[in-house]
Amino acid sequence: MQRHTTLGEFIIENQKDFPYAKGELSALLSSIRLAGKMVNQEINKAGLAEITGAVGHENVQGEDQMKLDVLANDLFISTLRSRGEICGLGSEEMEDFVSFNDPIHSEAKYVVLIDPLDGSSNIDVNVSVGTIFSIYRRISPSGSPVQLEDFLQPGNKQVAAGYLIYGTSTILVYTTGNGVNGFTYDPGIGSFFLSHPKMQAPRDGKIYSINEGNYIHFPEGVKQYIKWVQELDEASNRPFTSRYIGSLVADFHRNLTKGGIYIYPTGTKAPKGKLRLLYECNPMAFLIEQAGGKATDGYTRILDIQPEELHQRVPFFCGSMKMVEKAEEFMAKHRK
Ligand code: AHG
Ligand code: MN
Ligand code: MN
Repeated sequence: MQRHTTLGEFIIENQKDFPYAKGELSALLSSIRLAGKMVNQEINKAGLAEITGAVGHENVQGEDQMKLDVLANDLFISTLRSRGEICGLGSEEMEDFVSFNDPIHSEAKYVVLIDPLDGSSNIDVNVSVGTIFSIYRRISPSGSPVQLEDFLQPGNKQVAAGYLIYGTSTILVYTTGNGVNGFTYDPGIGSFFLSHPKMQAPRDGKIYSINEGNYIHFPEGVKQYIKWVQELDEASNRPFTSRYIGSLVADFHRNLTKGGIYIYPTGTKAPKGKLRLLYECNPMAFLIEQAGGKATDGYTRILDIQPEELHQRVPFFCGSMKMVEKAEEFMAKHRK
C-alpha cells in the first residue's frame, strides 16, 4: 500500500465540503479516530490481558455484556468527554443517553450514537469485531442540556457515520454524505492511511449473509428469497454463496467490498428484528446509500424511519442495490 494521505489530512482537506462548519465536525472525527485507536490496542492484547469473556451480567437489552463491551464503551465516553465537540452520547451498552452537562459541552453542536463493540460474542474466538458510530447535529437549543429528541432523529439527519473494523487489519470507514472512504491503520506509525478511496458497493453480487439457523422463524418472504438464492440458474449466478460472520461490521464490510446482501429479519424469537436502529442500522444504511447500495426494513427505507426509543430494533436488509430490491420483491409478494 502506498502511504499518501493520512486520515487526519483527509478530514482537514474535506472540511471545505461544509461551507459553514467551524471545524467542530473535523475535531469530532479526530476524537473518534483516537478512541478507535485505544479500543484497537485493547482488542489486540485481549487474549493476554484477561479481558475476554463475560462481565457476568446482562446489558439493558438482556444480552450478555462482555468485558470488552464495557471497556470500549468507557473509552469512547471518556475520550469524547475529554474534548468539547459533543453535548451527549447514546450507547447500545447504556439504558439512557449521557448528558455532558457542563459549560464547555452544553454549547456543543453534535451528539454521537455508538455501538462501542459490535460482534462482541466473537471476541473470545479471535474473529473480527468493530465499532459503529453515528453523528447528528443537536436540535435542542445550544447551551441547554441535551434532550432525548436530539437522539431520536431519523437517520436521514445524520451528518456523519462510520465504523472501525478490528480485523486482519484495522480499517476505519466513514461518510459525511459525500461518498465513503476507508483508511487502514498502520500500527507501527500509529496512523490511518487512505486505502479505500470512494468506496462503491457493487450493484449486484452473489453473497447472502443471514443467520440461517433461524430459518423456521423467518417471515415467508425471507424463506422464499432464501429458496430462490439457492436455486440453480447459471444466468444469474445462482446458487449464491452463503457467508455469515455474526459481526455486522465484518459482514457489512465484506459485502460492501465484494457485493452482497445482509439480512436480519423479524422472527418469532425477535419480533421486531435484532439489530438496533440508532446504533447499527442507521449508520450502516447511510454508508451503504453513500456507496450506491440500499438499506430497508424489507419495505421502507431505513433512513426515513422516525425512531421512537433509543434501543429500538428493526429488521434490516442491506447491501448491493439489485440484491436488496430482489429481496424486497419477495417481501412484498408475501406480505400479510
Ligand atoms: P453486538 O455484539 O453489538 O450486540 O451485535 C451483535 C449483532 C451483530 O453484530 C450481528 O450481525 C448479529 O448480532 C448476530 O446475531 P445472531 O447471533 O443472532 O446471528
Ligand atoms: Mn452490534
Ligand atoms: Mn455491541
